[in-house]
Amino acid sequence: MDKSHGMTASSRPINAPQSRSFVGMFGRMFRELPAWEPDGVTETEKLASIQKIAVEMEEKVDTPENDIDAIDGVPGIPAAYTFFGQFVDHDLTFDPRSSLQKANDPDNLEDFRTPAFDLDNIYGRGPDDQPYLYRRETHRKSLVLGEAKSVKDDKVKPVKDADLPRSADGTAIIGDMRNDENLLVSQLQLVFLKFHNKIVADLAAKGMPDDRIFAEAQRVARWHYQWVVIHDWLDRLCGPKIIDEILDIEGEGRFGKPKLMFYHFKEYPFMPVEFSVAAYRLGHSMMRNRYRIKDNRELPLFDIGKDDDSGEDLRGFQHIEPKNTVEWCHLLAFKGKDKAKVQASRKIDKFLCSPVIHMPNRIANPDDVAEPPVPLPKQIDDTRRSLAFRNLLRGYRLGLPSGQSVARRICVKADDILPGNTPLWRYMLDEASKFGKGNQLGPVGCRITAEVFIGLLAADPTSFYSTNPTWTPASDPVLTIAPQDPKDPRPFQLRDIIAYAAPESI
Ligand code: HEM
Repeated sequence: MDKSHGMTASSRPINAPQSRSFVGMFGRMFRELPAWEPDGVTETEKLASIQKIAVEMEEKVDTPENDIDAIDGVPGIPAAYTFFGQFVDHDLTFDPRSSLQKANDPDNLEDFRTPAFDLDNIYGRGPDDQPYLYRRETHRKSLVLGEAKSVKDDKVKPVKDADLPRSADGTAIIGDMRNDENLLVSQLQLVFLKFHNKIVADLAAKGMPDDRIFAEAQRVARWHYQWVVIHDWLDRLCGPKIIDEILDIEGEGRFGKPKLMFYHFKEYPFMPVEFSVAAYRLGHSMMRNRYRIKDNRELPLFDIGKDDDSGEDLRGFQHIEPKNTVEWCHLLAFKGKDKAKVQASRKIDKFLCSPVIHMPNRIANPDDVAEPPVPLPKQIDDTRRSLAFRNLLRGYRLGLPSGQSVARRICVKADDILPGNTPLWRYMLDEASKFGKGNQLGPVGCRITAEVFIGLLAADPTSFYSTNPTWTPASDPVLTIAPQDPKDPRPFQLRDIIAYAAPESI
């Protein structure tokens, strides 16, 4: 399967359940604001203006040294979070009609993903509907894993449970194909499969009746994941102040009702385009050119110019060789491991690394961008591979407001509003440079991201926040998963899931 996570019906089964809670819709947070307009009168001139902004966003000097691990002496966000961010995106969003031409009406774009933090990219539609994702055992409680193996050299010994389950041609058999797009998100998917399986094993060891184990393990996995999304990942992006303010645990929030100022929905939540097409594309600026995955094993994100998969790089959709399985201590700090090895994400700023500006065809799927009625002019054609151009073009076609108008609408102090008339995605990146030194979002990025994350958590009647807003991992009634450092201000983190679920991979 050769599609990226922004892409196509083929990466998501069309036979998604029809229940109303499963199907979400795209919509807008700031309906009343005018659309940002690029400079120019004709469509061609406007596209050329967008192209100009995109071209300036490529980090020109691409050397490994550019992938800085600390920003002004402050350690950056560990690199594992970039791919956790991508994993979360896939849990929340799916746009089956990704064509930038068609995608100009958010009210008619269906999001076949449940807009909820429910790990449906792990569970698919469950053991009854997709039994092949589950082990053949009583009640199909745990998920199938695969082995890392070399398809080129049969003398290489395969490693059990070190890759996703795959068909003979290398296609991953998982709930969401997009989680096999690159090696790092693919190995993170494996961690979450193992996370569920380890909980199943622990609950069985505690004597829980077999027929209760699947549902309880799913609840434990989801609640811990939701905790990490809000109190670890969102906390890193926005800091605790805005989270506490929106969660409002002392006030209405104790009934699972957050204080949302701009993200409003009636019965069912929708996926705001301001989030999916702008704010949460923050991760596109966090990717590094290259990643070290083991001592002495470093690979580029994409080998630029290699469209035929002959390059040595991190692209996915294929069997993983044992030499390419990831050791997470290179992307995240663990107790007892050398912290100096940890690579950071790149700054959240206006620059993107070259591999995503020149994405391989297989990932970029450029044909999706240039459909009638407004084909891209010839001189802009090559730019279709650029993720910066794609994000900006999609924002324009969807009529997203400028960053400045959102900043005014959410009452950012006049002095803190950046000058000019900037497309929302780019504005949010510029803000992160100015206010967060590239390590945190600014006021606009935080407001959109935090309201959507917390709003979706509250809209899910099965989330920990709706069920028991004061729940913490330490207070789980059924299973306590020991964190690496209980005294850390973030008491339960992504590293705790990895260390518990897949200690052999750290
Ligand atoms: C190797 C890493 C990644 C690649 C190659 C990649 C590529 C893409 C592509 C090609 C699109 C569709 C663009 C369009 O035509 O509109 C997209 C969409 C998107 N990306 Fe990424 N991306 C990566 C990582 C990330 C990360 C780390 C995040 C967030 C933390 C992120 C968030 C999003 C969001 C929110 C969308 C729109 C929703 C969707 O359709 O999934 N991406 N990405």
